[in-house]
Amino acid sequence: MAGTILVIDEGTTSTRAMLFALDGHCLGSAQRELTQHYPAPGLVEHDAAEIWQRTLECAREMVERAGGAERVAAIGITNQRETIVFWDKTTGEPLAPAIVWQDRRTAELCAALKEQGHEAAVQAKTGLLLDPYFSASKIGWALANWPQLREAGHRLAVGTVESWLVWKLTGGRHVTDATNASRTALMAIGSGGWDDGLLALFGVPRAILPEIVDCAGRFGETRLFGAPIPICGLVGDQQAATIGQACLEPGDTKATYGTGAFVLTATGTALPSSRHRLLATVAWQLDGQRHYALEGSVFVAGSLIKWLRDDLGLLASAAESEAIARSVTDNGGVFLVPALSGLGAPWWRPDARAAISGLSFSAKRAHVIRAALEAQAHQTHDLKTAFAGDGCDWTRLRIDGGMAANDWLAQDLADMLGIEVERPAFVETTAIGAAMLAGVGAGLFATLAEAAALRGETQVFRPAMDSQKRQVRLDGWATAVKAVLDS
Ligand code: G3P
Repeated sequence: MAGTILVIDEGTTSTRAMLFALDGHCLGSAQRELTQHYPAPGLVEHDAAEIWQRTLECAREMVERAGGAERVAAIGITNQRETIVFWDKTTGEPLAPAIVWQDRRTAELCAALKEQGHEAAVQAKTGLLLDPYFSASKIGWALANWPQLREAGHRLAVGTVESWLVWKLTGGRHVTDATNASRTALMAIGSGGWDDGLLALFGVPRAILPEIVDCAGRFGETRLFGAPIPICGLVGDQQAATIGQACLEPGDTKATYGTGAFVLTATGTALPSSRHRLLATVAWQLDGQRHYALEGSVFVAGSLIKWLRDDLGLLASAAESEAIARSVTDNGGVFLVPALSGLGAPWWRPDARAAISGLSFSAKRAHVIRAALEAQAHQTHDLKTAFAGDGCDWTRLRIDGGMAANDWLAQDLADMLGIEVERPAFVETTAIGAAMLAGVGAGLFATLAEAAALRGETQVFRPAMDSQKRQVRLDGWATAVKAVLDS
C-alpha cells in the first residue's frame, strides 16, 4: 500500500524533499543548499540545472526512505514563486540563468511603465503592481537581452520553478498551477488565463508559456525513481503555507518568516482589491474554482539574519540571535530598516537601500541584532495597518517559517501587533500545505478541510507589552522608515 506523500519544497536558498505519512507525521527530510549568484548589485540568479540536480538528490533519498517508489502515493511540489526559468524543449537543459524573485534588474523598465500610466490596468487585471518582483518584466528583459532565447525559437520553454521541475520529472509536461501563474503578472486573476494585453505589454509570446492547471489533480507521473509516481499537487510556497496553516476561511491569516516575510489573508472566492498597495493573489484553485487571498510581501526577513551572519560576521549562527536579543533590555535607540533588495509591501520602492540608524558609542552588537529581529515585527505591523485599511484587519496571526522558531520574535510579534500569535509545533507548514494538495489530488482526502488535520498542535503567544513602550518602538520605526524612503 502506497502510504506516503513526497513533498518537494524548492525554496530560495535551499531545496528539500520531505516524506509524510497520511496522518501528517513527517517521516524524514533531505535538504541541499542552493548557490546564490549575485553578478552585480541588484541582480540575483540561480542555476536551474543545480535546482534540478539538488531536487533530484533530495527526492531520491526520500523515496529510498519510503522503501521504494511503489510506497509513494503522490508527489506535491511547492516552490519559491516568481523566479523564472528558461529551457530548451528538445534537450531539457536551461538556456540562461534563472532570474530570481529578488532580482531588481527591471526596476527602470517597471518605473517607465508606471510613468506611462499602466499600473492601474495591471493591478486591475492581475491583482499585482508594477514591480520587478513579478516574473513578466524579467521574461521581457531576458527575451530582449539574451539572444540565445530568441535564437531558440519554438524550442524555448519558460516557466516558474514548479513548471521546470514538472518538466524534468515527467520528461516534457509544460504546466504551471494557478497560484504560481498568478505571480507572473501575465495571468488575468479573475479568468485564470494568460491575458493578451499583458503579454503584449511585457513582450512575452504566449507559445513559450505553460498551460495553467489546478493545484490538485494528476499532472503526469515520474518514472525516475522506479515505479511511476503521480504528481498530484502544485502550489507556490506562500500559498502552500496558507493552506498548511489551515487558513481556509475568509479572514484566516498566516505570516511566513523565510527568506522574506509573506502575510496572506484568505478572502474566499471573492476576488480582493487593495487600495493600500497589497496584492490580490490566487490562494488555490480546485476544479477550476479559484480561492483568493490578500498578500503583503516583505522581501527581507531570514535573509537579514543570514547576511548579519555570513557577510558582517555579527552572528555565529541564526539561533544565537535569540539569546543576543534577550541580553539587552531594549534596542538602545537603534533601528534597522532591512531594505537590502529594496522595499516591498506596502512601500514598493525597489530603489530603497537598507539603513541602521540611531547609532552611538553606547550601541553594542546586541542592539544591532535586536534591531534586526525587531524589524520583523515592525514590517509586519506596517502590513497589518495596510490590511486593516483594506477592510481585512487580523484578529489572530498564525506564524511559521525558520525565524518563527525564535520565541523572542514570536512574543515581539504578539506585543507589537497587539493580537494573539499562534505557532504550530511542526513549523514546516509549507510542506504540509503541499502534502494536503497532493493528498486531495490523489483522492486520499476529499477536501482541504479534511486534510487540515495534518496541521497538529499549536502554541499561542499573547500581547504583554506596556502600551507606552510599544508606542516608542512604533514611532522610532516610523521615523527610520521615513528616512529610508526620503533618502
Ligand atoms: O515570493 C517569493 C517567495 O515565494 C519566496 O519564498 O520561502 O524562499 O522565502 P521563500
